[in-house]
Amino acid sequence: MSEPLLKVEGLKKYFPIQSGVVSRTIGHVKAVDDVSFEVNEGETLGIVGESGCGKSTTGRMLMRLLEPTEGTITFKGRKISELSNKEMRAMRRNIQMVFQDPYASLNPRHTIGKILEEPLIVHGIGNAAERKKKVSELLKIVGLSDFHAKRYPHQFSGGQRQRVGIARALMTNPELIIADEPVSALDVSVQAQVLNLMQDLQKELKLTYIFIAHDLGVVRHISNRVAVMYLGHIVEIADSESLYEEPLHPYTQALLTAVPVPDPDFKREQELIQGDIPSPSNPPSGCTFHTRCPFKMDICTKEVPAYFEAKKGHSVACHLFNEERNDINPIN
Ligand SMILES: Nc1ncnc2c1ncn2[C@@H]1O[C@H](COP(=O)(O)OP(=O)(O)OP(=O)(O)O)[C@@H](O)[C@H]1O
Ligand SMILES: [Mg+2]
Repeated sequence: MSEPLLKVEGLKKYFPIQSGVVSRTIGHVKAVDDVSFEVNEGETLGIVGESGCGKSTTGRMLMRLLEPTEGTITFKGRKISELSNKEMRAMRRNIQMVFQDPYASLNPRHTIGKILEEPLIVHGIGNAAERKKKVSELLKIVGLSDFHAKRYPHQFSGGQRQRVGIARALMTNPELIIADEPVSALDVSVQAQVLNLMQDLQKELKLTYIFIAHDLGVVRHISNRVAVMYLGHIVEIADSESLYEEPLHPYTQALLTAVPVPDPDFKREQELIQGDIPSPSNPPSGCTFHTRCPFKMDICTKEVPAYFEAKKGHSVACHLFNEERNDINPIN
């Protein structure tokens, strides 16, 4: 098998919590705490979890907008930390981001044409005529027209603005797009249009996506694989089909009960999990989910669960599933 496009190993981001006039560090927010995953060329990896679980922080580290506290990121076989400045610039062109709120991420005083041209100027790509041609090409690709280049962000609807956000991300011909809740701010009807556009673009341009979302419903149809995050950890990662058909982690099961199901006879045994997410500056001992888990056992408060590969491509970090306990493991 060929190597993955992106490989993340033991990635951590601890933000210092400072206090007092001399800014003494009194603790850390463990925003991302030992995350590992791979993304293969041409696929979509969904990353899902409640607010504050570290999804955006993970995305920002991949973009090098944030320096990891620990861990390695390997893109196209090269460790990012070992790249020369020149290689780093090339890599930055190759990984682009689409943001949740296109309005906040588009400069309101610039025309769409100028906004789209900017990444080319930053990376020193093409002359004025070539840049103009590329802007026109990308506007068409995302379903807009040449005349839109002269307009300003406020003259667009939310869906159109996200089309501009997507066009901007594509200007430098990237291979990997990190989409951080790209449809969360849009009306449901518009969400489907933008998701369809992203799927079409993926096929046509052979893009690889990391698609971040709050709930499992949004990523279901676009993701080949899904990683579920809780308090800075990936608690379960699997092929989409396996994850949605046989969710193993109690947290994944709870997230799935929150997804509306069209079948009225459909019932799940559990109610949605109760209670608040603990603070990532003081995470619970053992399995960090134990404070909200309906299946909590003694061991859960004491030991961090290791990953258990329930079947090929489906791993879960939960004490209900491990080598010794595979008698109660539902898939074998
Ligand atoms: N620059 C920062 N300094 C300190 N703490 C931060 C910083 N950025 C994020 N955090 C904290 O890190 C944790 C993870 O944040 P992050 O934004 O990655 O979560 P998220 O999963 O993207 O949440 P959301 O769904 O709300 O976007 C949160 O507790 C957040 O408050
Ligand atoms: Mg976020």
